[in-house]
Amino acid sequence: MNFNESIEKRRTFGIISHPDAGKTTLTEKLLLFGGAIQSAGAVKNNKIKKTATSDFMEIEKQRGISVATSVMAFAYRNKQINILDTPGHKDFAEDTFRTLTAVDSVILVIDVASGVESQTEKLMEVCRMRNTPVIIFINKMDRDGKEAFDLLDELEQSLDIKVRPLTWPIGMGDRFQGVYNIYQKGLNLFSANKTKIAEDVYAVNDIHDKELDEIVGEEPAEELREELEMVEGVYDAFDREAYLSGEVAPVFFGSAVNNFGVKELLDTFCEISPAPRGRVTDLRPIDPYENKFSGFVFKIHANLDPKHRDRIAFLRVVSGTFERNKFYQHIRLDKKMKFPNPTSFMAQDKSVIDQAYPGDVIGLYDTGNFKIGDTLTEGEKMMFKGIPSFSPEIFQELENLDPMKSKQLDKGIRQLIDEGVAQLFIQQPGNRKIVGTVGQLQFEVINYRLINEYGAKCRFVPRNYFKACWITTDNEEQLETFKKAKHSLLATDKDDNLVFLAETTFLLQMAERDYPDITFHKTSEFMLDK
Ligand code: G4P
Repeated sequence: MNFNESIEKRRTFGIISHPDAGKTTLTEKLLLFGGAIQSAGAVKNNKIKKTATSDFMEIEKQRGISVATSVMAFAYRNKQINILDTPGHKDFAEDTFRTLTAVDSVILVIDVASGVESQTEKLMEVCRMRNTPVIIFINKMDRDGKEAFDLLDELEQSLDIKVRPLTWPIGMGDRFQGVYNIYQKGLNLFSANKTKIAEDVYAVNDIHDKELDEIVGEEPAEELREELEMVEGVYDAFDREAYLSGEVAPVFFGSAVNNFGVKELLDTFCEISPAPRGRVTDLRPIDPYENKFSGFVFKIHANLDPKHRDRIAFLRVVSGTFERNKFYQHIRLDKKMKFPNPTSFMAQDKSVIDQAYPGDVIGLYDTGNFKIGDTLTEGEKMMFKGIPSFSPEIFQELENLDPMKSKQLDKGIRQLIDEGVAQLFIQQPGNRKIVGTVGQLQFEVINYRLINEYGAKCRFVPRNYFKACWITTDNEEQLETFKKAKHSLLATDKDDNLVFLAETTFLLQMAERDYPDITFHKTSEFMLDK
């Protein structure tokens, strides 16, 4: 197979959902279809249970397992599929946001009863920022939930994206009979079955045919006909280009736990989803088909065993071919590095690879050289952009409890920040360290790791901020006035960008009103344009 074909057959995507909607179940079923695992339950172990919030060690144990399943690769219908795992636990949302920079498309799972939930909205915001193509899978049709049209309206309104159903459900809950495949004009009948593919497929060339009444019953058949007519009236015909540009999300209905609708989803995914796409650097856009290798680190996984300080940096190959033992340029450190043991991930197995292609994610053993966002190239001095930081939601000041260990504390906290465990803002006077996270769990992680890996003791003092906003302006004079007035609420981030720590929504709105020439960014994504 030549280089271009190797790229074209790759599909790298992530599955996202609000916890409990069915992400783990769907992932598992996809792996079963791909033959990458033999039995159900294999992925489940990887899941960080919501109940375990206070049991940090338990979570870390599970995170340990999750290294192996961070990327799940399998072959299906002549495609090489890479699923990038995203943690379901909301305290690890930042991890998920970053993983989304390494995918080319996304499958969003929605629970038919719960509809759009808070986590779904946030994740979709990130997808929209980068126009990531999205397919929606409405799950748990075997349970009673929202009416299909209402749910589609809700999706359009809350997620700010157009939708286009490609299948249509016949009933739901106890009355769920299956789905009608609008494009293939087929009827897939449902029978609850957790172990095998639970579909009987009938071709229905004409939905007005009496045969439909015989199969699903007169009333449901009539209802289906009416609803399909409405679907055609309300929604534009499916347009692949609009999907690829992130404007329209095709929608499927099914039941992951019963294996229903999953094959259809996967088949359509293989047909319409994008092959690996390029990425933007501070120098120029990079095309995946360029023959020189480039890639970026989007995730770092630390080994919690203090005897083994090594970490795994996850790198997405953007262009060219990555080769084992070849020297590459680490741009930020301006240093040549080679990697004797790059790993790829096949479901639960890790193996050393000799080569990797655009779209692939490889694990690089790291002894502290990598930060999230780092770029490797064959020499060209450029950095990939757009690994954004999002405003944290919880802020606490880090206080050193052992003055003899302040160096260790400093080193430890900086390394944890490089791994993306939390964000650090420095406040003057006194270089005060404000740590910001999206969840309380991160503070436990930091505390534990500072003690165990760096021998540093600290405590966290809650600070009452509500958002950190990155600040830009062309009006230097206004900026100076602002700095004087808000001195005590200003800080700098890890890259020395100025950040305003707003105490309430109201105070943020006041600042926006009083300083109209200053822009308050809730993510660092604006740096894409810098
Ligand atoms: P998540 O990764 O998005 O958090 O969700 P997960 O797949 O773990 O699914 C959450 C719960 O929903 C699980 O039940 C799972 O079995 C169930 N589920 C997934 N798909 C369907 C479906 O199509 N229909 C129905 N009725 N349930 C579904 P659990 O009780 O939390 O776990 P388990 O004990 O069943 O494993």
